[in-house]
Amino acid sequence: MKQKVQILKWMAAKTKPYVRNLILLILMGGILSFVRVYMAYISKDLIDSALERNHEILMKTGSVFCLTILVQIILKWLSADLSVKTAENMSGSLKIRLYRHLTNARWTDYMKYHTGDIQMRVVGDTQVAVNGIIDGIPKGATLFTGLLAAFIALLSFNKEIALITLLLGPCSLIFGGLVGSRYMSFHESTQEAEGRYRAYLQECLSHMLIIKTFCREGDSVEKLRKMQAEKKRLAVKRTFSTTLINTVAMMGLGLSFLLIFAIGISRVFDKTLTVGALTAYIQLIGQVLMPFVDMTVLFTTFLSAAGSAKRLMEIERLRIEKAEIKPSIKEFDELILDGLNFSYEKDKPLLKGISVSIKAGEIIGLVGASGQGKTTLINLIMQLINPDKGCILLKKENTIYNLEQFSARDLISYVPQGNTLFSGTIEENLEMGSTGTKAEEKIEALKGACALEFVNELKEGLNTVIGEYGIGLSEGQAQRVAIARALLKKAPLLLLDEATSALDMDTEKAILQNIIGLKRERTCIIITHRLSALRYCNRVFRLENGNLKEKEPAKMLAELNERAGFSVFFNASEA
Ligand SMILES: Nc1ncnc2c1ncn2[C@@H]1O[C@H](COP(=O)(O)OP(=O)(O)OP(=O)(O)O)[C@@H](O)[C@H]1O
Ligand SMILES: [Mg+2]
Repeated sequence: MKQKVQILKWMAAKTKPYVRNLILLILMGGILSFVRVYMAYISKDLIDSALERNHEILMKTGSVFCLTILVQIILKWLSADLSVKTAENMSGSLKIRLYRHLTNARWTDYMKYHTGDIQMRVVGDTQVAVNGIIDGIPKGATLFTGLLAAFIALLSFNKEIALITLLLGPCSLIFGGLVGSRYMSFHESTQEAEGRYRAYLQECLSHMLIIKTFCREGDSVEKLRKMQAEKKRLAVKRTFSTTLINTVAMMGLGLSFLLIFAIGISRVFDKTLTVGALTAYIQLIGQVLMPFVDMTVLFTTFLSAAGSAKRLMEIERLRIEKAEIKPSIKEFDELILDGLNFSYEKDKPLLKGISVSIKAGEIIGLVGASGQGKTTLINLIMQLINPDKGCILLKKENTIYNLEQFSARDLISYVPQGNTLFSGTIEENLEMGSTGTKAEEKIEALKGACALEFVNELKEGLNTVIGEYGIGLSEGQAQRVAIARALLKKAPLLLLDEATSALDMDTEKAILQNIIGLKRERTCIIITHRLSALRYCNRVFRLENGNLKEKEPAKMLAELNERAGFSVFFNASEA
């Protein structure tokens, strides 16, 4: 119950800015219902005057009849236009709000969701929720006013039949209410299955190379088919309950109609009712009973909207990262990691009391076997995750800033592990590093990343369009564009996570020398598996079993060389 109230509150809050439009839509819908009832009302005069060959009344009622049709056309056109605009505005702003929330959400919370699932919620569920509100509320109000007007008109014809009709209608609503509580969970399961399906499809499309080269085309089609079958099963289940409610409502409607029709016919035989009155009478009965059937359908629309709203509320509940609301630091003299402990899983500590002090301008090498926590450590510095114990401090002159209270992200420029380029031009990718930069600055960054030469050789230069994940560039070229993007940010702390792993030794050397050339401007932490990169570091640390051990660069090189054994003989650049 509490949850239902929360959902209703959420829907009310999202609807608030569009109340004026909703009222207009309700008014137009109300007028339309009255016009429809009025049409039924005057159809009596129209038919009776035609049967009596009374031309004067026929012309008069005929003109009014045409006018009501015209009014209906205009009102329907206006309300459709307003409805689409309102729905688009509402879903647009809802999607932007959700996206903004996701950009501010804690990394650990965000990572729990598959991007396909998030997409389904932001796009699919937003649409369902908005349609439920913008279509559903005016429709509900229109149905109600239509029902009321038709009932009053019917009452003026025959009280007894009007009351019988009104009593038969709500039976379908009661049945709808019984099935309704399960309908919402059916809707949620269907949306979840749709999310899983989209997520898998998205991944298959992104990793088509793996599917092709591992000859998994058939398997992936089969898996997709199975997911589709599951999706269908749930959708059929959901639709079954809608159809069940609808069928019962329609059966009730049919029986009521038959009963009332029989009474009407007997009255015509008795000559207590004219044919025209019978026509109007049948139309009005329809207008009293049909809203009940439509309301059961509308009921499921509202339930779907509520189910989708629940899924959107879940996204809105993702915790905001503290960095967003903290004051930002833009300079530092010293970065201090003080007793950092971190674990992804309880009782499985990954980092155990890491303490180190890094002076501005130092080039730090960080090595360690795969899975030891190097990326995790820099994720802590970037405040993507928070330490379980210990803290990260920044010293500027005589002031010490604890990153629990301050944001260090403006301070950091980052080249992540793996390919992280966006589809678009190379220039657009560079501008992710810093917007509004001059052409010379971009050239400078490309030069620093040893990327200028190959970019100039491309037919369109900086305007060359690259595909998803940098398709169209070699791995090493994509890495260099990612380095240029980071250099363009000109932040004082540069974090390179295996940023040169795809480069040949000469290019790696040139890039690292360029970065060292910026020494006074940048402090640099280089995570690497390659010995060659360590030659350019002032200090080198090894991360092992959750502890950080400092080694003389020369000693570390010798040690790693020794560990590498024969592999050094084959490839001296590997650590
Ligand atoms: N989001 C996560 N949730 C749970 N465990 C994680 C998560 N990310 C990483 N891990 C685990 O934490 C450990 C350290 O991962 P991390 O990526 O920091 O290693 P790494 O030293 O950077 O390795 P590599 O050299 O292969 O990049 C690994 O055992 C990994 O399985
Ligand atoms: Mg890593």
